[in-house]
Amino acid sequence: MNKPKVIVTRHLPCEVEAQLTQLYDVQLNESDVPLSADELKHALQTADAVLTTVTDAITADVLSVPNKRAKIIGQFGVGYNNIDIQAAKAEGITVTNTPHVLTDCTADIAMLLLLMSARRAAEGERLILNKQWTGWTPTQLLGQKVTGKTLGLIGFGRIAQAMAKKAHHGFDMNIIYYTPTSTPEQAVLNDLKATRCSSIDELLAQADFVSLHCPSGATTKHLINEARLKLMRPTAHLINTARGDVVDSNALIKALKEGWIAGAGLDVYESEPNLNPEFLTLNNVALLPHLGSASHETRTAMGNRVLANIDAFFAGHEPCDRVV
Ligand code: DGY
Repeated sequence: MNKPKVIVTRHLPCEVEAQLTQLYDVQLNESDVPLSADELKHALQTADAVLTTVTDAITADVLSVPNKRAKIIGQFGVGYNNIDIQAAKAEGITVTNTPHVLTDCTADIAMLLLLMSARRAAEGERLILNKQWTGWTPTQLLGQKVTGKTLGLIGFGRIAQAMAKKAHHGFDMNIIYYTPTSTPEQAVLNDLKATRCSSIDELLAQADFVSLHCPSGATTKHLINEARLKLMRPTAHLINTARGDVVDSNALIKALKEGWIAGAGLDVYESEPNLNPEFLTLNNVALLPHLGSASHETRTAMGNRVLANIDAFFAGHEPCDRVV
């Protein structure tokens, strides 16, 4: 029997590519250059499965290409805002993602950004890199103590809860959260002594650190806008490891410049990788290049999860992480 044909849009960890090569008639992307819209269309026409990432714009136009062969898109990532899910559903294409396996690594990066922003770590490193550090002084780069402060989580899914656990048990932080959707388990809430806020605005007014954990979409686009940034404390920090478009970057730049908030730690941006160049001129922002899940262990686990999904699909079973 012929092996199903699989097209992989980006270079994946070697172990994952080796496994794919063994199981499927696979076309890898060794150059790692993202595919164009036409190349993505061609992939849908020539493969049984296409393995995508956050950098592939799988729009309604791409999905509506005629004579499609692909029956499944296996997204390498928990977020799938790069895929027009309604269009995929209408085209009868199954979409899967890779939840669970990147929870801790992404929560680690959120904690890293929280600490960097609070303790002015990026600013301190720039001082050294620019050869401007003249030595210790009692008042140099004073940041904010993290231990015992209040962390406000917007969205309270797996990654938010993992961050809350690290913050509460590691840094004795008070946890408050807002979620419009999920009902967290009582045992989790008891363990974290977490308090639910009845609105985002209530949370913003109370938190010393605000960390975003909601998906990208029509209801969350620019959720953090000028009016909401003004509700935050002038000593507060905003952390974003979710998706760039959840924050209005022009409003955030204004807030950081004018001191409405003390700082921000960002891993994701609107229009990645072309972040607003004004961010580069600010001292009170820590910037990372979308590193949330970037550890060897996690990226390999994500690849294995994509494999498990497509293996199940081709074996005629329900993939465990089916989105549509
Ligand atoms: C995710 O899994 O959503 C990461 O941000 C990479 O896409």
